[in-house]
Amino acid sequence: AESERSKRIAAARDELGDDVLVLGHNYQRREIVEHADFIGDSYALSQRAAESDADYVVFCGVTFMAESADIITDDDQTVLLPSMEASCPMAGMAEALQVDAAWAEITAAAPDETIVPVTYMNSYADLKAFCADQGGLVCTSSNAHRAFEWAFERGDKVLFLPDKHLGENTAHRLGMEDSTAVWDPWDPEGKDADEVADADIVLWEGYCQVHERFREDHVAQVRDEHPDANVVVHPECRREVVEAADVVGSTSTITDTVADADAGETWAIGTEIHLANHLARWHPEVEVVPLCGDACMDCNAMRQIDPNYLTWVLDGLREGQERNVIEVAPGEKERAAVALDRMLEI
Ligand code: 13P
Ligand code: SF4
Repeated sequence: AESERSKRIAAARDELGDDVLVLGHNYQRREIVEHADFIGDSYALSQRAAESDADYVVFCGVTFMAESADIITDDDQTVLLPSMEASCPMAGMAEALQVDAAWAEITAAAPDETIVPVTYMNSYADLKAFCADQGGLVCTSSNAHRAFEWAFERGDKVLFLPDKHLGENTAHRLGMEDSTAVWDPWDPEGKDADEVADADIVLWEGYCQVHERFREDHVAQVRDEHPDANVVVHPECRREVVEAADVVGSTSTITDTVADADAGETWAIGTEIHLANHLARWHPEVEVVPLCGDACMDCNAMRQIDPNYLTWVLDGLREGQERNVIEVAPGEKERAAVALDRMLEI
């Protein structure tokens, strides 16, 4: 059945030709990435979409990525997401309405200061638009430190959303780890105005449910089992995991690190399991081990993109039907684009 389905996807792709661009995030399963024109991180894939003339971009990733692709592609290009259930839980941890309410409290806690909101790419378009309106910008895991520097050139404090771990790791990189506070909108005790007033960096209580599961013990265990292992982790991991690792970076950095490794080296990979599996397959000369062995670090949002849904979306296009279109509302789209453009300038 697997090869039948694969043949069907390949036949649909043949028939549709250059009209359709298929993008696959690094965390997609093998049966998806083998049909993708490009495989990469969330930001690189949006850029690929923007560079392409294809009428349709089929984004095999999660909702916020498809939204970003819609924002940066031309108006006559249509972005499709094979499953509408593919929503990143972390992006859902900072809803624009909730952030808007928190913003009033946070700004009231420091009335004489200018606060600049910075949102991670892993957020919805309405939050990106909010950040643009408040003088802020978007960042990815590879340019968060530059986004913070940009913000501090324009204001006194940064509010970083939604990933507190990336925020903390970035504060550390800038030597500002002693000047952070966490704002927890779900906990009445987690919204301390005095802490906000004292801190330079306010972190929203959000996290990635995949990367947060990595522990320092996993690093110790892999070093015990593979004494020569180098450890590379994503900056969505907890601070102590990042500290115990040898290299930290986005999924592109992780991919490049293994691609540049010498034959015979061992690399332990602290990120979503599908990328670790792809790297093992793409670089058989390197010993690639998942950081926490059998405990499967699988993103259930990414997993929603089942090959059957990719088939369904492509078959729709063959029949002239646009299925699962992701379209950011006009107005919001232009505002969110401002926050993305500010990132491109840094
Ligand atoms: P990047 O591919 O941008 O590093 O993002 C990691 C991630 O968690 C995406 O969901
Ligand atoms: Fe969201 Fe984490 Fe899954 Fe990425 S890996 S889509 S951040 S839950």
